[in-house]
Amino acid sequence: MGREGTGELFVRDLWYMTALSASLKRGAMRREMLLGEPVLLGRERDGTVFAMRDICPHRGAPLSAGRILANGAVQCPYHGWEFGKDGVCSLIPSLVEGQDMDCSRIKVRSYPVKEQDGLIWVYVAARPGAVPKNEPPKIPSTDSGSIDQENSGASAETPRRNFPSGRATQQKIRWHETQLFRCSIDHAVIGLMDPAHAAYVHDHWWWKRKPRVKEKHYAPLPTGFVMTAHKPSKPAYSLLGEVTTEITFELPSTRFETLRGRLFGRTFKIVGLTVCTPRDAENTDIIQVFYFPWWLGFILPLFWLLGPTFIGDDRKIVELQREGLKFNPNLMLIQDGDQPAIWYHRVKKAWLESTEKGTEFVNPVQERVLRWKS
Ligand code: FES
Ligand SMILES: [Fe+2]
Repeated sequence: MGREGTGELFVRDLWYMTALSASLKRGAMRREMLLGEPVLLGRERDGTVFAMRDICPHRGAPLSAGRILANGAVQCPYHGWEFGKDGVCSLIPSLVEGQDMDCSRIKVRSYPVKEQDGLIWVYVAARPGAVPKNEPPKIPSTDSGSIDQENSGASAETPRRNFPSGRATQQKIRWHETQLFRCSIDHAVIGLMDPAHAAYVHDHWWWKRKPRVKEKHYAPLPTGFVMTAHKPSKPAYSLLGEVTTEITFELPSTRFETLRGRLFGRTFKIVGLTVCTPRDAENTDIIQVFYFPWWLGFILPLFWLLGPTFIGDDRKIVELQREGLKFNPNLMLIQDGDQPAIWYHRVKKAWLESTEKGTEFVNPVQERVLRWKS
């Protein structure tokens, strides 16, 4: 039994999935809260996405309420100061001749941004201006064609970083759903990886089956852990024939579920990505996206029908949980069923220490088999 979860709420020097590409049109910008900070997320007319602190250094107006000019600069709505997407001030319109002033000494914090596979990732550095130490995860190709070629990469037992990089093709989002959970990132993450709640929270005929003992193998990943590939027990998966599933979790709050199978003579992958994006201390967006090959399109109605309900179950339970948490009770983490949550707290603590002291991160997770009933 353990009590964990004290210390800093947010981890930095990591990429946060902030928005879906399709939600940000060319020439548009808006405020996105991220780790309690107001971030302007914008897209230039040439398609480039950028992010900067959404507070004008002059008098605090939200820059996102201004506009993107033809030259690509962001213009503040209050006195028209202009900023490049690197956050450097390029013009103060009120200055007249003779009032020499180097505007480029005025800067707004800018954030590194990466856009790939229909997703916009923003890097939140512990020290503003620091260069990213790592890359956001890439989505692997989901259609491996007509022959069994699936054995080239990592085997089920090989722990690895989320997915191999260096591939130029972009994967297409087939389904997505975002719901705002009124809880901290910690409760959102723990709810996501909690194996013991399904029978009670997702109490639907299409998901349920009689509780039984589960035994799952876990291994460490660079900044998290993986439940290695196994046959899923839920009947809902049987639609896809014989499949295996592998579930990874890595900091800050990135969970991948990869289903691998073979149908109509073709091997396939279905990749589900779930992120918990902390907007502030008490609000966390759960963003779920799925990637799969076009010829599996017949499964889409299932996502439309069941997806929002399923995520909504988790949202409702954390809302209910608030009724207890507001009295700030001590909480418990019990045995193997809560081991993923214990690991989450430990990985996070080790990461916080490493970013604070500038030392190398050492993953505290050890390979293990966990047993629980659900
Ligand atoms: S507040 Fe932005 S220019 Fe004055
Ligand atoms: Fe759940």
